[in-house]
Amino acid sequence: MKVDMDKLVSLCKRRGFIFQSSEIYGGLSACWDYGPLGVELKRNIKEMWWRDMVRERDDMVGLDSSVLMHRAVWTASGHEEGFSDPLMECKVCHRRWRADDTKDGRCPDCGGELTEPRMFNLMFKTFFGPVEEEAAVIYLRPETAQGIFVNFANVVDTARKKLPFGIAQIGKAFRNEITTGNFIFRCREFEMMEIEFFVKPDTAGEWFSYWLEERQNWYIKLGINKENLRLHQHGEDELAHYARVCYDIDYLFPMGWSELEGIADRGDFDLAQHAKHSGKDLSYFDPDSGERFLPYVIEPSAGVDRAALAFLVDAYDEEPDKNEIRVLLRLHPDLAPVKVAVLPLSRNEALVPMAKDVYASMRKCFTAQYDDAQSIGRRYRRQDEIGTPLAVTIDFQSLEDNAVTIRERDSMKQIRVPVAELTRTLELKLLGEPLEVLPPGGKYWLGFE
Ligand code: GAP
Repeated sequence: MKVDMDKLVSLCKRRGFIFQSSEIYGGLSACWDYGPLGVELKRNIKEMWWRDMVRERDDMVGLDSSVLMHRAVWTASGHEEGFSDPLMECKVCHRRWRADDTKDGRCPDCGGELTEPRMFNLMFKTFFGPVEEEAAVIYLRPETAQGIFVNFANVVDTARKKLPFGIAQIGKAFRNEITTGNFIFRCREFEMMEIEFFVKPDTAGEWFSYWLEERQNWYIKLGINKENLRLHQHGEDELAHYARVCYDIDYLFPMGWSELEGIADRGDFDLAQHAKHSGKDLSYFDPDSGERFLPYVIEPSAGVDRAALAFLVDAYDEEPDKNEIRVLLRLHPDLAPVKVAVLPLSRNEALVPMAKDVYASMRKCFTAQYDDAQSIGRRYRRQDEIGTPLAVTIDFQSLEDNAVTIRERDSMKQIRVPVAELTRTLELKLLGEPLEVLPPGGKYWLGFE
């Protein structure tokens, strides 16, 4: 369904996914805090990316480089000179705009005349050490990629990888964005998941196509509707200073098609620049051909916050339910902040010991939540709204037969399972097994019709 951004922002705040930064002081624009559920969602996105891009691949290694780097890194990379957006200011209301967010030289807010564009560098400056002088200026990194390039030789020397191979990194980045808004779409502090994939120059084209496909499939595998993704090739005027070719994977966000992830062919721009500025040899020796050369780089670069927004938008759904509307997040189980809710039918004290026992064993295996407030119907709704794929209910019958009910978020189907089989059944369900057919041997559990 088409989601209204305001509804999503309100759900995120109401249920503890995302809050405005420094809210009690009026907020700090384009900075966001992830609450108890948001932090789980974000960790899951990063964990799935790391699992699929690093752990399960032989041709990738990870890195965690520091946010603060030598100023020379940003001189060499071209960011000091060229990481700028054209800024225009409204002569009437004095709001500032990125030139590409305006039309006809008029302010999108009040229609006032805009100044001529001037270039504005997006890097946040700070001082390294106690003295606030020009010589102490350094930057908060605007991308994690440079930490990878400056460690290229270290990784080649230590990781025993031959081309083609990649270095992956997840970490914070900072950009003093001119126009912000659209919730967590464009933030001034955000997290990136970046891969620099080093290849022989004559294979760059093949690898570019490979990563374009691979990265779209990753979003689809984790639940994004294929129809909501498209590719957009950068024209000459859009290309970043380092890129030979670049495609965006666009997502159909509530405000329209916008960039979710960028895939760029950076050629040997970065390694060549760092070799030149540092005086260090960053070439690669190919033991098979006996040649020495600077590898080319294919870079799939994704934003964690943008991915979180896309997953939330895609998962949001509403459906009629009796006289009400059921709101649910159809999040993929791998991403859902809570996997299993444990719900005693009521607060009746006879149920509590068993419910607590079940909860204690569930939380050893899954991110689980215990909830005994309000009616069972309301508790199911609350779990639907935060995307919990499975709920386990303990009722009076459970005390007799030592079995509990599993209720599935999307279908609302229920089955009864012996407590001894609960963990295994939930595990299989979270892996996507159909609810009806359960082990051992595809047996139908008691209570399923
Ligand atoms: N190293 C390549 C690079 O930085 P980019 O297209 O500027 O490329 C990559 O950024 C991704 O980072 C974007 O596709 C987006 O997902 C995310 N991103 C960039 N700027 C962002 C911002 N201000 N807020 C949130 N995410 C951002």
